[in-house]
This record gives sequence, C-alpha cells and structure tokens, in this order.
Amino acid sequence: MSEKHIIAVLEGDGIGPEIVAVALKVLQAVESGSGHEFELRRAAFGGKAWFDCGSAFPEETKQVCDGADAILKGPIGLSFEESKKIPVDEQPERGALLPLRSRYNTYANFRPVYLPPELAHFSPLKPRVVEGGIDIMMIRELVGGLYFGKKEVGTRDDGTRYVRESLDYDEHQIAQILRVAFDEAMKRKKVLHNIHKNNVLKSSVLWCEILDEVAVDYPEVEVKHTIVDAAATALVLNPRQFDVMVMENMFGDILSDLAGGLLGSLGLMPSACVGDEKAYYEPSHGSAPDIAGQGIANPYSMIGSVAMMLDMSFGMTDEARKIWDAMRDVFGQGFTTADLKDPEGKLEPISTEAFGDKVLEQL
Ligand code: IPM
Ligand code: MN
Repeated sequence: MSEKHIIAVLEGDGIGPEIVAVALKVLQAVESGSGHEFELRRAAFGGKAWFDCGSAFPEETKQVCDGADAILKGPIGLSFEESKKIPVDEQPERGALLPLRSRYNTYANFRPVYLPPELAHFSPLKPRVVEGGIDIMMIRELVGGLYFGKKEVGTRDDGTRYVRESLDYDEHQIAQILRVAFDEAMKRKKVLHNIHKNNVLKSSVLWCEILDEVAVDYPEVEVKHTIVDAAATALVLNPRQFDVMVMENMFGDILSDLAGGLLGSLGLMPSACVGDEKAYYEPSHGSAPDIAGQGIANPYSMIGSVAMMLDMSFGMTDEARKIWDAMRDVFGQGFTTADLKDPEGKLEPISTEAFGDKVLEQL
C-alpha cells in the first residue's frame, strides 16, 4: 500500500511559478515507483494573492496549509514599485511570510550551504580557499527576535519621528532551537559554532547562558563561540572551518545570504522551516521579479527544498539523496545557470526548464 502525503503548494511571486513547476516535475518523478503518493493542493500566497484575493495569506490558503502534511513554498515578494501599491503591513513579507512562520511555529530554519569540491569554481572565493568544497549547515531561529517583536512608530511631542522595535526571546525559545542545533551537530562533526553578540546584546547573554545549560546534555559536542560580526569575516576568509552554525533570527537572515554569496549565488540555497507540528520548505532567496518569466532562474534551491521535504517530512532519505546527486551531476557535466558566474566561459548555460529536464534524466 502506498503512503499518501498531502502537500500544499504555494507558488509565490516573480520567478516562483517557473521554479515551482520544475520542482514539481522532479517531485512527480520521485513519486513513481517510490511507494509514496503525493497529493498536491495549490493555494494563493504572496503579492499576487493580495492583488487576486485581497490578502497575501488568504483564509482559504490557511485551510489548505492546515490540512497538509507539508508545505512547499516558492519565493514571494514584489518589485519596489509594485510593493508600494499594498499597505505596508499587508505586503507579502509582513502579511504572508511572517504569519506563515508564526502560524506553524516553524522555529528551526535549516539552511544548507553546500558546494561539492567539483563545483568549487562557482564560488567567487579563490580556489585555495574553497578547495575541497563548502559544507555548512546554518541553523537560524525563525520565529523570534526583532522580526516578531513589538513595533511602535510615532512622533514625540517635539515633532521628532521615532521607531522602537523589540528583540524578544525567552529561555524556552532559545533552548528549543539550540537543541535542534546540537542534534544536528551530533549527526555531523560534533562541532557547533554558536553565533552571538553577547558583548553588546542582552539577548545574546541569555542565549549563551542557555547554551551552557543545554550543552550539558551533549557532552560530545565541541562548542565554538563566535561573535556575529567576526563570523561574517571568518566565513569569507575560511568557510571550511565551519560545520553547524546556530544563531538568532536576524543574524541568520544576514549570514545565510552571505553564505549564498560564498557559493556563488543565492540560487543554490534551499531551506527547511521546521516546527514541532508542521514544516514548510522554501528557497532562501527572493522572487527576483526582474528576471521573472525569462526562463533563466536557477531552480536548484527550489528542487533542493523538495529534497529537504522528502527527507525531513516524509523520511525519504534515499530519494532526497538522489535528487542532490542528480543536481550535482548536471552541474558537474559542465552546465550552468544564468545566476552563476562563469569567468572562463567554459560552461554551457541552460534554462530553468532544461536544468529540470537534465535532473530528471539523471533520476
Ligand atoms: C528570508 C527572507 C525573509 C526573511 C523575508 C522575505 C521576510 O529574507 O527567508 O531569509 O527576512 O526572513
Ligand atoms: Mn533573507
């Protein structure tokens, strides 16, 4: 008997629909013969949803997501000009994405920063720095901190406009993300880089205190403390010194984009957003409205998000591995996508769809 999984599919904006289409083809290829059955339920989400349905996260979409075993989400977001047509709090990032994260309490964001040795040429770093490839797992706390804190915008009596945003965490929130990170470190090299700013932020002081408490349960894991700004430098100078990194929400947002730069493109950054009850999967990058519809978007991060879903939500570890290997092989055969630099002009650029088709051939 085949096992059935219901997947909510949120195409999103910009390049979303085209990379989701390719990722779904890969998903369907995996389905045949796997003993698993996927039922896809599409729902509107993001900027387009706001214009079509009057909400970036419509009620109907919430129902679809509530009833799904996992959620596959394309990038969302509009161009600067288009965004301005929507009230600030209803713009897709604030009106859809953050509410999605808090609805399902997807506190653990896994962002693999992975470039196998044979693809090290995609990195803008010197070959001697990335020789051997890059393989880091960034773990970002996703539902706390500044992005979810209380916000106040106002004008003082003297007419000065001000803003106040609060960075909130409690010990339970910190402990739960740290446990995820320690567990991941146990599965990998048993080294955990703790990224913080405890020389300035009280939130980091508490974070590090909780870390010491949680660490007691993981005596085998070596913890290395690194201040976030120094970590940014260290990542560029020698990314290979890192394995599992854990950090609060905003630090993770920024450092994971930096990590995309280390790989050569944010197009190589899939992600998993995991809560205790539900998980959703999305590329770490935006919707790139400037290149939408041209067939040049890199679908790697979207296909990689499918692989992460298969692995983490459905326990289909082998199938996930095959997808990673297939994508690695396509690039390994000398193909490239438009986002990746090819200074020597030795690689053959292929379209979004062609990349997907080649992955299917490999599978
Ligand atoms: C990300 C994105 C989001 C974030 C935006 C779109 C709200 O940049 O997933 O990294 O800041 O978390
Ligand atoms: Mn980001």
